[in-house]
Amino acid sequence: MTKDKVFYQFPTNFLWGSSTSGPQSEGIEPGDGKGQNNWDYWYSIEPERFHNKIGPSQTSTFYKHYEKDIDLLVETGHTVFRTSIQWSRLIPTGTGEINQEAVSFYRSVFSLVRAKGIQLFVNLYHFDLPYCLQEKGGWENKEIVQAYEAYARTCFELFDDLVDRWITFNEPIVPVECGYLGNYHYPCKVDAKAAVAVAYHTQLASSLAVKACHEVNPHKKIAIVLNLTPAYPRSEQAEDIKAARIAELFQTKSFLDPSVLGEYPDELVELIDAYGLMPEVSDEELAIIKENRVDFLGVNYYQPLRVQAPTNSWKEGEPLTPEHFFAPYDMPGKKMNPHRGWEIYEKGIYDIAINIKENYYNIEWFVTENGMGVEGESAFKDNGLIQDDYRIEFIEDHLIELHRAIQEGANCKGYMLWTFIDCWSWLNAYKNRYGLVELDLDTQERIVKKSGKWFKKLSDAN
Ligand code: BG6
Repeated sequence: MTKDKVFYQFPTNFLWGSSTSGPQSEGIEPGDGKGQNNWDYWYSIEPERFHNKIGPSQTSTFYKHYEKDIDLLVETGHTVFRTSIQWSRLIPTGTGEINQEAVSFYRSVFSLVRAKGIQLFVNLYHFDLPYCLQEKGGWENKEIVQAYEAYARTCFELFDDLVDRWITFNEPIVPVECGYLGNYHYPCKVDAKAAVAVAYHTQLASSLAVKACHEVNPHKKIAIVLNLTPAYPRSEQAEDIKAARIAELFQTKSFLDPSVLGEYPDELVELIDAYGLMPEVSDEELAIIKENRVDFLGVNYYQPLRVQAPTNSWKEGEPLTPEHFFAPYDMPGKKMNPHRGWEIYEKGIYDIAINIKENYYNIEWFVTENGMGVEGESAFKDNGLIQDDYRIEFIEDHLIELHRAIQEGANCKGYMLWTFIDCWSWLNAYKNRYGLVELDLDTQERIVKKSGKWFKKLSDAN
């Protein structure tokens, strides 16, 4: 704890840990039977889009070193751990035959985590789609909903005895924005109608997974993980406020409302309809969404979204993108993480907590990602140790705001950092380091950072 801070006690049984994902940690090993996913395929055709041309097969080798890594979870004080199953590892072609190597791998990993007394949260989808399904139209094609449901049910049947809590999707808005509006993830489209269909099919798939989870085990809890980044308007002017409201409709309420309240906000539906973007929707599907709400929420929070009224209005014939509804606002004087270029705004976590408390019936939730990415982190190495005081301060300052919200009645039950060991991160590969543990890319050696030692004390003292 830095010197001017006081001691904050979190509620009994509050969980401390971190999150990772299968595609960002496991890697590919000869004979592992993993099928190709959208990332493997994209890297095979456009490696230059990935930082330093490091692709998805070169992740932190968890497939090979999971025993050592699980020991590191213990060493860094974990009482909870979140990872994901790779669909393309378990069912290499997306539907049909199950890869038995994958079943043994996940059962060994999950058993070991639990044997160490660590609670296990398992996510089913972290941006990774079996390429065979991408070829058939991916999330644009409604048939994928059934394929995902079957995959989810298979996971529940195979692993339910070893998993404490399930998660349907991580940040489902990201593939929508990056893959169908921003040309930043495969399939790199800019097509608002496709984006809306992808979002709707993902929500339907999530609701069907909730249903399947409860059918397999009525007592098991399942969530969706959302990046509930609040949208703050530049000013109190009506147009800025409207921009912030639309940003929240698109980026948070599009999944938050159907997942927690069981229905889409009217204003979002009207907006989608007004621009001719409505996907095919049936009453039966809407009933599935209504009747299968999540049991709890995962919240990822890194930075706020600051917006202002858009500068360009949309003209017929132009691609319709979010910038026509809200423009980013670069607030002067904002506190920055200069090593990642992201704003640091600790109060965002408090605002999220109060929003959940007041507008989403104070559903139980966990911070499932929060963390500080640092480019060139080896510059902070001294005496063989990454001296990441900036990360400790970042976590402490967010926890103070979280603690304040809990004191005011927020129903948050745990904090998971992104992430326990430096990991591969999509197009950014290993550019931004987030771990409590340093990964040497050449030797695969793992070295606990100063923050890793501190996190153990944090967890022990609660
Ligand atoms: C989160 C994602 O939003 O951001 C993670 O869920 C990702 O998968 C993390 O790794 C950090 O992103 P970046 O681009 O800073 O490495």
